[in-house]
Amino acid sequence: MSQETPQRNLALDLVRVTESAALASSRWLGRGDKKRGDHAAVEAMRMSFGALDIRGTVVIGEGEKDEAPMLFNGEQLGTGNGPEVDVAVDPVEGTRLLAFGRPNAIAVVGLAPQGAMYDPGPAFYMKKMAVPAVAKYQVDIKAPVAENLRRVAKALGKTVDDLVVFVLDKPRHEELISEVRKAGARIQLHTDGDVAGALMATTPDGDVDMMIGTGGTPEGILAAVAIRIMGGEMHCLLDPQSDAERQAVLDAGYKLDQVLTVEDLVQSDDVFFAATGISGGTFLRGVQFTGTGAVTHSMVMRGKTGTFRRVEAHHSFDKLMRISSIEYLKPS
Ligand code: FBP
Repeated sequence: MSQETPQRNLALDLVRVTESAALASSRWLGRGDKKRGDHAAVEAMRMSFGALDIRGTVVIGEGEKDEAPMLFNGEQLGTGNGPEVDVAVDPVEGTRLLAFGRPNAIAVVGLAPQGAMYDPGPAFYMKKMAVPAVAKYQVDIKAPVAENLRRVAKALGKTVDDLVVFVLDKPRHEELISEVRKAGARIQLHTDGDVAGALMATTPDGDVDMMIGTGGTPEGILAAVAIRIMGGEMHCLLDPQSDAERQAVLDAGYKLDQVLTVEDLVQSDDVFFAATGISGGTFLRGVQFTGTGAVTHSMVMRGKTGTFRRVEAHHSFDKLMRISSIEYLKPS
């Protein structure tokens, strides 16, 4: 039996990064301004990364699709000491959820060894199907929706009528929604936030059994980091939503009929993931301000060990604001 001295769990440092993004951006909850909420998270996240002992490069930055303020692809993060890692960030996954005070806006970060994350190139969108670990080898994204629902129900020991499927409420999903309903399964429709959807579908004892539909490619890779650690599966197919995107994807040599699994999207177990709730939801509570500080709720995972922690942190603004240049007390 090979034995290894426990190594540093970078995810435990990483959670401070997602906590700071959540604390700063949650001041923008329901204020109707998704750009400023995202900006607050980006600034806080960027600053918090400055204290992390990594030599990080952003490979999945958020923002190109909707021109949000961003942590740029190629941007170097960390102190410059420590392991060389690729970084995937989404300072606010669900900027509209935050702007309108809807559930499941989260701050998310994933780390992987250099080159281990799928490079989406010019592909902004992909079709995703996320299922729990027991259904990992049962599903096939190319099979009809009703067939996949039957297979997931069987793996879970349920009937199709028992299933709850997370679907983004987008016009492009009209047919998908009617297929799911016709098969007899129930649906949770969410305007945004399919990283949360994928996590809800793969976290044991979640309210959701499965997530299907087309969403952002960066969000798919971030979700894949967590699924690689927790177990579960996600099948994806690049799914361009405009002629220009389709052409760019094809010109770059990508195949639209190639099924991408979690192992294709994240090609190492040596990964770390952290997410902190911003607006609150069924699987991750939001930031609660207490008058003197705030409470945050996060999930923290390490791939090598498969350890999954839930972290409740109590932040005291009186002390925090003496040492931090991040504005946590009011919207900035
Ligand atoms: P943002 O964090 O960029 O606002 O993304 C939210 C989101 O709903 C993602 O969860 C999802 O993958 C993507 O947008 C879907 O894109 P679109 O809203 O363009 O259909």
